[in-house]
Amino acid sequence: MFAHRLENVSASGIRKIFELATQVENPINLSIGQPDFDVPAVIKQAAIRAIENNQNTYTVTQGIEELRLKISESILQNRGRTPESVFVSSGVSGGLFLAMMALVNPGDEVIVPDPYFVVYKNLIHLVEGIPKYYNLYPDFEIKAEKIESLITEKTKLLILNSPSNPTGSVISKETLVEIAEIAEKHNLIIVSDEIYSSFVYDEGFSSIYSYYPRTILLDGYSKSYGMPGWRMGYVAGPSDILAKMSTLQQFSFVCAPSFAQHACLEVEKVDMTPWVKSYKKKRDFVYEALLRSGYQVTKPRGSFYIYPSVPWGTDEEFCQAAVERSLLMIPGSAFSSQNTHFRISFAASDDTLEKGVDVLAQISQPPKK
Ligand SMILES: Cc1ncc(COP(=O)(O)O)c(C=O)c1O
Repeated sequence: MFAHRLENVSASGIRKIFELATQVENPINLSIGQPDFDVPAVIKQAAIRAIENNQNTYTVTQGIEELRLKISESILQNRGRTPESVFVSSGVSGGLFLAMMALVNPGDEVIVPDPYFVVYKNLIHLVEGIPKYYNLYPDFEIKAEKIESLITEKTKLLILNSPSNPTGSVISKETLVEIAEIAEKHNLIIVSDEIYSSFVYDEGFSSIYSYYPRTILLDGYSKSYGMPGWRMGYVAGPSDILAKMSTLQQFSFVCAPSFAQHACLEVEKVDMTPWVKSYKKKRDFVYEALLRSGYQVTKPRGSFYIYPSVPWGTDEEFCQAAVERSLLMIPGSAFSSQNTHFRISFAASDDTLEKGVDVLAQISQPPKK
């Protein structure tokens, strides 16, 4: 009954944990991929005003002009390049969908990281492309030559995700320059998912867009302003590609939510750096606690995830032991061909994190038979 394109598309492994979670009373939830802060009051008020002022109609497909201008200015400020073109998308997920639909033919190869954000693999399958994975274990550092070794005449896109979900790794400026050279040599298009650009803890943020103009840059407000339910993202990059993506948006998402576009005109009024500083403290707290309990773990330099090795058993066995103690985390196989790791989200209250690391200390040794 179903279309062939769905054959390799599978429900996210994360869902299994959410199903288990419904059976746990008062879970210690370190599985959630969204910030634990809410939309700042100024932006909420702007959204309410927008609704009351009847800004509830469709907007133009590419998003309201004032917002696109602001996005363009902010990209110039933090990536050093004025985009040829910008449009507002229904979240970064919407932008990813349009990029795949616009560029990937059946049989085309798309180079993706492993571990990866689950949407990449499924979208590539949806458009009948072939994912080619660059393995990032054990330290989650990208090696430019590894990417180059995967390039064939069928390669269409390279997906980068820095800071990363699920590993928290950040691609260094030097590596971005090397990747840009390889992309130039092979005439690649890069899709750069920069949704965690504001969550960088140990260095300034660097983007491939500063070094390589054939980049489709995706970012948005879901994580940085605590509004994942508002579905607000943006796409910047080459005009020829963005024009096609925007045409597809016209026939699918139509436009990003109108009230939210108006509300996001106010984001620059809010300083989110105190939140980012508090997330850095959470990162340090969880990382140090894991080390004390003997876990093998790379310190994340961005996003709000940490991705340790499981100390015993498979990822699912280990996460099951955690669930039995009310702790919810995601088995690494939801994000990877390997079942050797697990993802903790530290976007949680300090109290929840304290309870979480206590359970992790208790289950760091295999259960006695
Ligand atoms: C790497 C990555 N990209 C994109 C998204 C989705 O972002 P949006 O809410 O803007 O669709 C997520 C959400 O978890 C993510 O982790």
